[in-house]
Amino acid sequence: MKLSIFTLLFFLSIYPFVNSQTNLFIPVALSGNSIDLNLQTGTTNFFSGITTNTMGANGNLLGPTIILEQNQSVTMNVQNNLPDTTTIHWHGLHVAPEHDGGPHTEILPGQTWSPSFSVLDKAGTYWYHPHLHMHTDEHVSKGIAGMILVRDAEEAGLGLPMHYGIDEFPLVLQTKGFDANGQILVHTNLDSCVLVNGTRNATTQFPAQVVRLRVLNGSSQRVMQIGFSDNRSFYVIGTDGGLLSAPLSKTRLRLAPGQRADILLDLTNSINQSFELMSFGAELPNAYYGAAQPGMGPGATSSLAGYTSNPLNGANFNLLQINVGNPTSNPVLSIPTSLAVLNPLTQSSAALTRNLTFTSAGAMNNLEGPFLINGTAFNMMQINYTIPINQTEIWSLTNQTPIAHPFHIHDVQFYILDINGVAPPPELSGLNDVVLVPGGMGNVRFIAKFENHANDSIPYMYHCHMLPHEDMGMMGQFLVVDPNASLLENTDATHWHITPNPNNGKFLISGLMQDDSFHLMDASGQWLRQLRTVNQELDLDLQPGVYFLKDNSGSVMKFVVE
Ligand code: C2O
Ligand code: CU
Ligand code: CU
Repeated sequence: MKLSIFTLLFFLSIYPFVNSQTNLFIPVALSGNSIDLNLQTGTTNFFSGITTNTMGANGNLLGPTIILEQNQSVTMNVQNNLPDTTTIHWHGLHVAPEHDGGPHTEILPGQTWSPSFSVLDKAGTYWYHPHLHMHTDEHVSKGIAGMILVRDAEEAGLGLPMHYGIDEFPLVLQTKGFDANGQILVHTNLDSCVLVNGTRNATTQFPAQVVRLRVLNGSSQRVMQIGFSDNRSFYVIGTDGGLLSAPLSKTRLRLAPGQRADILLDLTNSINQSFELMSFGAELPNAYYGAAQPGMGPGATSSLAGYTSNPLNGANFNLLQINVGNPTSNPVLSIPTSLAVLNPLTQSSAALTRNLTFTSAGAMNNLEGPFLINGTAFNMMQINYTIPINQTEIWSLTNQTPIAHPFHIHDVQFYILDINGVAPPPELSGLNDVVLVPGGMGNVRFIAKFENHANDSIPYMYHCHMLPHEDMGMMGQFLVVDPNASLLENTDATHWHITPNPNNGKFLISGLMQDDSFHLMDASGQWLRQLRTVNQELDLDLQPGVYFLKDNSGSVMKFVVE
């Protein structure tokens, strides 16, 4: 069995030289107020003569690109026709926790989940993928992932390429591993097969003008160091959560699993040229998955199973062959000089700093995991943090393990304050939802504001976006609560009670020793009126519904009028 895996690995590694190129697949784009995603199993021929079982949304592999406008409302109808329970998470979108598609929002086989929300995000490059606890890597590696592009008015005024599939191209970069039967491996370090939009040995034609690349590193573990074979420069115009303030000319860009980049490539003078989009893995410093050595420190060099036999590690490899053809009509021919207005949060606006420390569950030089955050593994039943809505916080991430972890948080886009004590490079100065925390005592601090959405019972996640690490428990969860609407169901916490409850608007606030005042609020936390009472029955003319009473110390009690 081992022998045949390595035979296949060898076969895969020489395959690019004996196989012709395949045209890059471009997922269809869906837009509008109602998006249907049908999760299904299927098959894909990554290798000729080999049928691989895959999963996709509305097809055999990957899913459509969803294009949304800021402030529009949208209903996502996610129909699960897989034989497995799963979830779909809108990675990077700022939606309510009950719409976020985290591990608590399971879609059973045969069920349809239909969250409706309005799009609050800035123009940017987001994505969606399954998030079932302990099965995220399985469902993503087998094929379910898609891009979400959000457009807004600010972006529309910049003259950027915005014709999907014509001058704007989604590029989902992934590496996958296969077993001897050509089936996709899960939790593997044998990810030697390079795919762009699910296409191996991909080739495409771009027009001789400014084109825009929406790049996602959708790999389970591999950090990419992207650039072009002729070292031509490109412009980074956006990161995870939107546009930068100005285009940045670069020849390389590091993208960790889960991260996105919005890139302009000026091909105006490149007609008839051919070159490759590559990952320059040989340039990755050690202690990043994809570098020659995945760890740092004593004994941390070779303890990742199969890693050294994977030909991609520490190597430069091709992602996509690009051939430049004729320009389109009305091409974009220039790069804007400025982009979006960013309003970084100031450190003085933060209410607190949360310290999160990453450790290995095993020996300090353990590269396989499980990895822990603040000494604990993910527990569905345990809320790690409760955050009052509208609070601004600094999160300080310290990585005591020998490998870099791409940390991701749901709900918010953050600004990076510093990496190892130094202000971030310009390409990381915008809004992000994933940040690579360097190995061996690396530290990252970011600042974020938790606004708009609160829910007393459904949490948001934070986790490592190396999917085997996430599945093995390198994840935690937080509630964002609205103190005005949140309810203290623990009646022991207050000395007063509402009797009866439910009632018809006539009730007694019992247990009061003296005249006390209360705020009456409706179900949405809206203030209705003030009440003063000492153990006497109140007769309020209230419509049926849910109400809250809050005392001067902030204790809140819910009651129902029938
Ligand atoms: Cu892209 Cu919690 O995930
Ligand atoms: Cu996410
Ligand atoms: Cu990790």
